[in-house]
Amino acid sequence: MIRKLDKLYEGKAKVVYKTSDPDKLILHFKDKVTAFDGLKEEERKGKGILNNLISSLLFEILESKGIKTHYIRRLSDREMLVWKAERFLVEVVVRNVAAGSLVKRLDFKEGEFLKTPLVEFFYKSDKLKDPLICRSHIKLMNLAPEEAISFMEETALKVNSVLKDILKERNLLLVDFKLEFGKLPNNSVIVIDEISPDSMRIWDKKTGEKLDKDRFRYNLGDLLEGYRKILERIS
Ligand code: TMP
Repeated sequence: MIRKLDKLYEGKAKVVYKTSDPDKLILHFKDKVTAFDGLKEEERKGKGILNNLISSLLFEILESKGIKTHYIRRLSDREMLVWKAERFLVEVVVRNVAAGSLVKRLDFKEGEFLKTPLVEFFYKSDKLKDPLICRSHIKLMNLAPEEAISFMEETALKVNSVLKDILKERNLLLVDFKLEFGKLPNNSVIVIDEISPDSMRIWDKKTGEKLDKDRFRYNLGDLLEGYRKILERIS
């Protein structure tokens, strides 16, 4: 039996615990919802449970397609057992449809389908508010070795193709999402963190209804109702 030990780290949406196995961690999903780098912050009772369930399901799907992630198994409503990895301070975003920061930054209209999926890198830095960076920045700042950058980009595109297809069958449109990666002691690079409606944009394919954290960011309706709709359709 694995035992939960001391808290290792507490983030905005999750708490990370050490365990009796030094190679494994426990992720605890909290009910806190934040947006705009923590400027907007609220509790939504039950959000942590939904994100744990959705993330677990999506990690299981990725693993079944041969994509390596930190996911081992779901332990309870709010907790997930994962492999301990050394995280890269890079967020990898994949976009299929223009939305969010892309439409603010460049001449794309919200809802416009991109000709090919777009991969972007962001520097994971609260102080700098996660700025957009390119491969040269990643190399110069030593955020990840060259091979890892290529691997993250290829893997992110694979994840996109798997998730896009699965969601499409359920009448859901995968607009964009963010992944994080880490390195295991054996040097393999794996997907870490969470894959939940906190870190993705998902729209209803027919009605265009936004079902993800944009509901909270822009007051578009009950947040958890959107998350529940996603969970129901992927279960
Ligand atoms: P963006 O349009 O704000 O750049 O976000 C792109 C996607 O990445 C969107 O699905 C939300 C997700 N994301 C995070 O999960 N964390 C972040 O800090 C940011 C900026 C975006």
